[in-house]
Amino acid sequence: MKKFAFVGAVASLALIVGCGTATQQAKQETPKEAKPMAKEEKPKKKLSKKEKFKIALANQDKWQKACSNPIQLVPEGIDIETFKKEMLATVKFPEGGPIGKDVKRGEKLFGDPKKGGKSRRGNCYACHCGDPSIIACGNIGPSLRGYAKRGIDPKDTYIRIYNSWAVNPCSVMPRLGYHGVLKPEEIADIVAYMHDPNSPLNK
Ligand code: HEC
Repeated sequence: MKKFAFVGAVASLALIVGCGTATQQAKQETPKEAKPMAKEEKPKKKLSKKEKFKIALANQDKWQKACSNPIQLVPEGIDIETFKKEMLATVKFPEGGPIGKDVKRGEKLFGDPKKGGKSRRGNCYACHCGDPSIIACGNIGPSLRGYAKRGIDPKDTYIRIYNSWAVNPCSVMPRLGYHGVLKPEEIADIVAYMHDPNSPLNK
């Protein structure tokens, strides 16, 4: 019995070692100079996270690049006033101006982190507090409770949401309009919600 067990163990060991060598060989057999495979045989190359990151890094726009410099505090080689001016120039307003009509939709867009159809949401609570009844709120950005009481021009609120870098270059606040995450009309509705004295945000 013992002998059989021993033989079995040796056999499985050989199998393991054998397999190991086979994979090693397979690795060695795909050197760079290997003949290119026919087009249809080529396996679809799945990009690793690292590769995707590399591509994204290479495709940064001039402004993102400036903000990604290791010093971070002052964008390299870009004058701050020029930076803001050029970011401001990207801001597009909807026909009806910076204050929308649909406060309810604004409230939804402000709060809902889910993607809805083609329109994605503002996800503001990820970084800000707002409606006091919503206690699961972030503190990466300042609290927006009582926002309208501060007498901020709604146009400035619109600009901030559309492209926060027009106000504060390199802010971590996403450039929601600039990147097309929110449409101008959607941003205007968020502005309407934020400036409505009756919205829970301002209670
Ligand atoms: C990833 C985090 C993040 C998200 C998401 C985010 N913000 Fe911000 N926001 C910030 C940070 C950080 C600041 C402060 C820095 C700055 O001035 O840009 C800020 C600043 C602001 C300000 C100026 C606040 C003040 O006290 O003057 C407003 C208004 C604002 N955000 C609105 C919004 C709205 C509305 C949304 C959702 C549509 C939103 N933010 C989504 C991070 C975020």
